[in-house]
Amino acid sequence: MSCPISGNEKEEGKQYGHSSLSYNSYLKVPELKNLQICQSNPAHHDEPLFIVIHQTYELWFKLILHEIDETMKLLADDRVKRATHFLRRVVAIMKVLVNQIHILETMSPQDFLGFRNNLNPASGFQSTQFRELEMACGLKDKQLLEHFKNDEIAYPELMKRYESHTLQDAYYAVLRKQGFDLPQPYDIDESDPKSSEREDKRIQSLRKLYEDSEKYADLNDLAEVLIDIDEQISLWRVNHVTVVERVIGFKRGTGGSEGVGYLRSTLHKRCFPDLWKVRTVLEVPAISCGPTK
Ligand code: HEM
Repeated sequence: MSCPISGNEKEEGKQYGHSSLSYNSYLKVPELKNLQICQSNPAHHDEPLFIVIHQTYELWFKLILHEIDETMKLLADDRVKRATHFLRRVVAIMKVLVNQIHILETMSPQDFLGFRNNLNPASGFQSTQFRELEMACGLKDKQLLEHFKNDEIAYPELMKRYESHTLQDAYYAVLRKQGFDLPQPYDIDESDPKSSEREDKRIQSLRKLYEDSEKYADLNDLAEVLIDIDEQISLWRVNHVTVVERVIGFKRGTGGSEGVGYLRSTLHKRCFPDLWKVRTVLEVPAISCGPTK
């Protein structure tokens, strides 16, 4: 994450009429307050809400990506506990993101219509950082990437993510070193009969994580945090599409999609599908800690 200012705090302070660093100069509060530019004219009362909530999401996306990038480096060094620590932070942030969408329910459909047309053709669909987050977690979709082809800033950034390792790659690399047999899940040709064979192998191997959860305590912990992340992204999708339906019904999106219909088609997406699937093949343990007769 870029943190371009360091060492020149005194100069920064002077800009705001102080001789030393202050809360407002450090956090660039005056600049932040000037970043909400309404498209409606005269400005509709609810447009600042719409801008601020999206900007807040983008700031948190930035931090989440920062944490995930660090996690991948830590996993490359087999520092599983430290990596889990940072991913727990990601989950905590995501829980806020899942819930803050509800603030938009205080905006009536009629009030949104008061400025919605001014937003065309901008849409959350174009959020580069949301796509980066999906890709970093393992959701790589070439078709989605193509939508950004004419965006000179977004496309190179997304391409870099598309070609980079994901959180799942980093986790599987650690597991392989511990003897887990995890054939490559990527570049799967759907028609390749071997792809489901490879998936079966991975899922059978991942059973150990849960069946011998004490032996693999740290790796099991990490798997559960990855599931938490996936669950939070899913919950965000559900909350988002519900709020969208509440505010615009079945109108088309400003980004040009069908709207609610499109968003519902994304609800099945999972970043760590193997970790979900392994649950189905787990069996009752030999020594169960369930209720005794
Ligand atoms: C009243 C509020 C909102 C409405 C009516 C709305 C509407 C929509 C619609 C219709 C789409 C589908 C693409 C399109 O055709 O435009 C979409 C996608 C999206 N929106 Fe929103 N949205 C709202 C709030 C938000 C907020 C607060 C965020 C926070 C970042 C957000 C992020 C996204 C993202 C990331 C997508 C792409 C989802 C995907 O492709 O999986 N939206 N939104």
